[in-house]
Amino acid sequence: MSRTLKYDIPGTDWRRSMADAYEFGMHALFAPELEPPFPLSIEIGFGRGEFMLELAAKHPEMRFVAVEVSWKRVLKMARKVARSELDNVRLLAGKGEAVVGDCVPEGSVHEIWVNFSDPWPKAAHAHRRLFQPAFVESAAIALEPSGLLRVATDDPVYAEQIDEVLSGEPRLENIYAPHPWVDDVPGRIMTSYERDWRADGRAIHFFDYRRVS
Ligand SMILES: C[S@@+](CC[C@H](N)C(=O)[O-])C[C@H]1O[C@@H](n2cnc3c(N)ncnc32)[C@H](O)[C@@H]1O
Repeated sequence: MSRTLKYDIPGTDWRRSMADAYEFGMHALFAPELEPPFPLSIEIGFGRGEFMLELAAKHPEMRFVAVEVSWKRVLKMARKVARSELDNVRLLAGKGEAVVGDCVPEGSVHEIWVNFSDPWPKAAHAHRRLFQPAFVESAAIALEPSGLLRVATDDPVYAEQIDEVLSGEPRLENIYAPHPWVDDVPGRIMTSYERDWRADGRAIHFFDYRRVS
């Protein structure tokens, strides 16, 4: 039996439009409730959203923009955020590339999270992978000095590509060098995909790259 999608939001609806993000920028999405300055964190492809809910609850002093290309996931997440009573999360239905490339001033983002971005394993689909030089360049430009680009993948082939693209971006430095990635980051919040992959015994690759001044 198919489940019915509930459209009502049980509290404040913190979704915002990409049109507003383009026109006014990411920081304005928090007005008038929360005014800058504040550390801004972006998660791209939040999926079921548990990671963002836990992160935002842990850091009430920060502001979080959660971006997801699936509007259904954004709707479901809007219901979760409303029930949580968090006021420091804003949701965007759109592409992460557009958000970091076109909606944030240079050097204004504290951290960018990309957890288990789709690996598109078939060679013919590899061009759809998020980690391409243009995306990583715009993410690096968006980060403030010492800001972090934080990435996880379970896919060994995609991990090699992510390593190549990240290490080729001169504005970023690998905080785990000389290792290209690590297989565990103590204290890191687990996403639902990570739980599934770990239960299957798959290795996880974590990358953390810092913006150099
Ligand atoms: C494999 S899931 C991982 C979900 C979540 N991060 C986790 O670890 O549980 C990848 C998610 O990224 C979303 N996504 C794919 N391409 C995207 C893009 N260009 N911008 C934003 N979200 C994207 C998908 O809709 C999907 O929800």
